[in-house]
Formats: sequence, structure tokens, C-alpha cells
Amino acid sequence: MYNLLKGKKGIILGALDSKSIAWKVAERAHEEGAIFVLSNAPVALRLGTIAELAEKTGSEIIAADATSIMDLEDLVDGAMKILGGKIDFVLHSIGMSVNVRRGNHYTHQDYNFTKTGFDVSALSFHRLMSVLYQRDAMNEWGSVVALSYMAAQRVFPDYNDMADNKAYLESVARSFGYFFGRDKKVRVNTISQSPTPTTAGNGVKGFDGFIAYAEKMSPLGNATALECADYTISLFSDLTKKVTLQNLFHDGGFSNMGVSTAIMEDFMKDFQPEAKEIVEETKDKDKK
Ligand SMILES: NC(=O)c1ccc[n+]([C@@H]2O[C@H](COP(=O)([O-])OP(=O)(O)OC[C@H]3O[C@@H](n4cnc5c(N)ncnc54)[C@H](O)[C@@H]3O)[C@@H](O)[C@H]2O)c1
Repeated sequence: MYNLLKGKKGIILGALDSKSIAWKVAERAHEEGAIFVLSNAPVALRLGTIAELAEKTGSEIIAADATSIMDLEDLVDGAMKILGGKIDFVLHSIGMSVNVRRGNHYTHQDYNFTKTGFDVSALSFHRLMSVLYQRDAMNEWGSVVALSYMAAQRVFPDYNDMADNKAYLESVARSFGYFFGRDKKVRVNTISQSPTPTTAGNGVKGFDGFIAYAEKMSPLGNATALECADYTISLFSDLTKKVTLQNLFHDGGFSNMGVSTAIMEDFMKDFQPEAKEIVEETKDKDKK
């Protein structure tokens, strides 16, 4: 351990169980010398195992539904009281789509579900930063990080309305990050993480295929939750003070790949004769 967060105070939102990315961030932040408050929705506190994490890291828990401004105000006020001053780092690790949960196709959504998913997964990031900003709760050179996924830029059909939520989330990091940087010297970034086997991840249709495909496509393989936590710690540390308004891919190189030899080999195994036909047809099209 490097004492990268020695003396720093934080709020970590979204640790549900030991698979959660936020859980790993909390463990790593504790190892690096930080003190912090944990938060999750009241229902998650009942269903998850966050109390275990609190005990392990010597942290207190404050329940907050990220769709409630009052809950977030109480969270930020409570955290400053418990930690004895302003905050140095905040992790937003929250996501949920009711359409995904209910199996609604992207082309046929229930828009009330869409609104709820947007409120929880995307608007909550703006709301959280608004509370931190209004209350002047962040120390100078503090750092705010939210977690995103590449479906914000590229099409992943089964990621459903979460793709739109992540696009908004990343946009908010830039737009709010401007004001936070200019006025309070606080940086704001999103980390675009590889598919990771957590409760939220496993909820996405065809997730096993997703994860295996990304593994074979990425030159370094998928990034794990713990590796994501390490990267997050670097963004909370003083080693990255001028990194802001960025969407940072943490995906083993997946985002810049076209195709890998491993994927091509798999594809061609079953596809050889048909591939030849397609090549011939393509040549014919040029002749026409
Ligand atoms: N797992 C993946 O493949 C993957 C990949 C890229 C990005 N992400 C993102 O990482 C973040 C963390 O997800 P995870 O994979 O660790 O899964 P997770 O299920 O462990 O965490 C999601 C968290 O959101 C919380 N949450 C849901 N509704 C809430 C509400 N109303 N108020 C407060 N909290 C609420 C849940 O209680 C849970 O703790 C999410 O933003 C997710 O989209 C995940």
C-alpha cells in the first residue's frame, strides 16, 4: 500500500455486496489511509451486506435514496459531521434500469420505468454534485468519480436504456465538472469500466456472452472490479490533480479495438463457407 489517500475524507455510494465495484473501492480506500462514509438506498441496506464492509473499514453508513435531494443533503451534511470537515473524494457507483429488470425491449419501453432508471442512474449524479457544490462541501483539489460503460458511445443492443443513461452521466461529468473546476478546484471524471460480474452487471441480458466477447477482444483482457478500484484510487489521489472532464476507459483496450485475432478465429470456425459467399457477393455488387 502507498498511503495515497492518507488524511483524505470521502463518501462512497453504491456498495451492495462484496462483488460491487464500490465495495472494492472502499476496501482499497481504507488500505490507502482514507476515512469515509458509506451510503446506499434504504432497501439495499436491508438486502445487501454493507454493514460488514462498514465494520471492516471502520466506516459509518448513511442511508440515502439517490433520487431524493433531501436524502443527499442529509448524506453530505452527515458525512461532514462524522468525518470532521469537508470532503476530498466522492464515488457515484449507482445504476439500475427497470426496463432491463422487467425484460422490456429497447424499442418498446415503459416510459415510467425509463424515467425511474434515468432518475436513479443518471440524474442522481447531477443531483449529488449539485448538493456538494451548493453546500461547498468539497475541499480544493477534491475528486468526484462516477462509473460508466461504453454503451454511452457504441451500440450494445441488450444494454437497453442504460446506454442513454450513461451518455447523460458522462455529459454531466463534463458540464458540471467545468463549474466545479472553475469555482472550487474540484475535478470530475467518469470511468468507463469493462463488463464486471456484479449484481447490476449480471442483470443485463446475455451478460455471459458480453463478458466473454470483451475478454477475447481486449489485448489486456477485461478489467476486474479490484483493478477498477485501483484506478479509482489513483483518481482520488493527488497524483491526478489536473485530470478532469474526462471519460476514462478502463477496459483492457477494448474501446479502441476493431477486431482481435481471437474473435476472428472463433467467428470463422463456423462461418468459413458463408464468408466466401459474402466475399463473392461483394465483388458482384461492385460489378453492377
Ligand atoms: N458491472 C458492470 O459490468 C459495469 C460495467 C461498467 C459500469 N458499471 C457501473 O458501475 C456502477 C456500480 O455497479 P456494480 O456493477 O458495482 O453493481 P452493484 O449492483 O453492486 O451496484 C449498483 C448499486 O446501485 C445502488 N442503487 C440502486 N438504486 C439506488 C438508489 N435509488 N439510490 C442509491 N443507490 C442505488 C444499488 O443498491 C447498488 O449498490 C453502476 O453505475 C454500473 O452501471 C458496471
